[in-house]
Amino acid sequence: GMMNEVTGINVMEQSLKEKLQVKRVMIVPGNSDDFPWVKEELGRATIQGMKECLVEHTIIAVTGGTTMAAVAGILTPDFASKDTLFVPARGGIGEDVHNQANTICATMAQKSGAKHRVLYVPDQVSREVYDSIMKEPSIKEVMALITSANLVLHGIGDAATMAKRRNTSEEDLQKIIEGQAVGEAFGYYFDVHGKIVHKVKTVGLQLKDLASTPNVFAVAGGASKANAIQAYLKGAPHSSSTLITDEGAAKELLKGT
Ligand code: F6P
Repeated sequence: GMMNEVTGINVMEQSLKEKLQVKRVMIVPGNSDDFPWVKEELGRATIQGMKECLVEHTIIAVTGGTTMAAVAGILTPDFASKDTLFVPARGGIGEDVHNQANTICATMAQKSGAKHRVLYVPDQVSREVYDSIMKEPSIKEVMALITSANLVLHGIGDAATMAKRRNTSEEDLQKIIEGQAVGEAFGYYFDVHGKIVHKVKTVGLQLKDLASTPNVFAVAGGASKANAIQAYLKGAPHSSSTLITDEGAAKELLKGT
């Protein structure tokens, strides 16, 4: 019955928290590989978890992807206060406009009545152009906001899927393949041991910044993402992370324990 199902999920959350050494694990029923609505459930759990961490002037740095877009889609005005600010975690990492952090931040702010800032730093420019862009006061200001974010909200993807989804150059693709990357987050590609085998060149949040972020929410579901989730958590600072996932991924992650 319902009670047993709830207890079962609580037990899985506890075991997974211990196995992955994260601050908290939240598991929603289902497998988002099979049913797209499970992503909305991930979104609901994420919003609930984040609400518990909001303080005055919370700055939330957000990445892109369809999971983040699902979170954005169900935000409502009771989520945040007017002084909550959404910023993209990193500059362009080759995503299609709907999946871009800039777009998702704008939606999050609009749906929740909060504010947002954009970060437009083109990736294919010369050193001189790049250097002068980085001296722009408006860019500097957004960069400072990003690095002072007290909440980071991000997706995790399968490395091959992400490399294909982005405009990855032949050279970078080789690095990802030869390095046997399995997981990706923030533009960093990780192998099964959590080693970074490739990093997309862009500005903004760096992986090491997560160590000093009080609250990090990693949201990724679907059995097909289990290896990616594990690889990422091995490679990234994760003691302040809450993992929000689904039963499909959780069952895979708990295999062999
Ligand atoms: O490209 C942004 C990003 O957050 C990646 O870092 C991550 O791997 C991916 O999107 C997740 O996308 P999705 O939620 O669509 O699986």
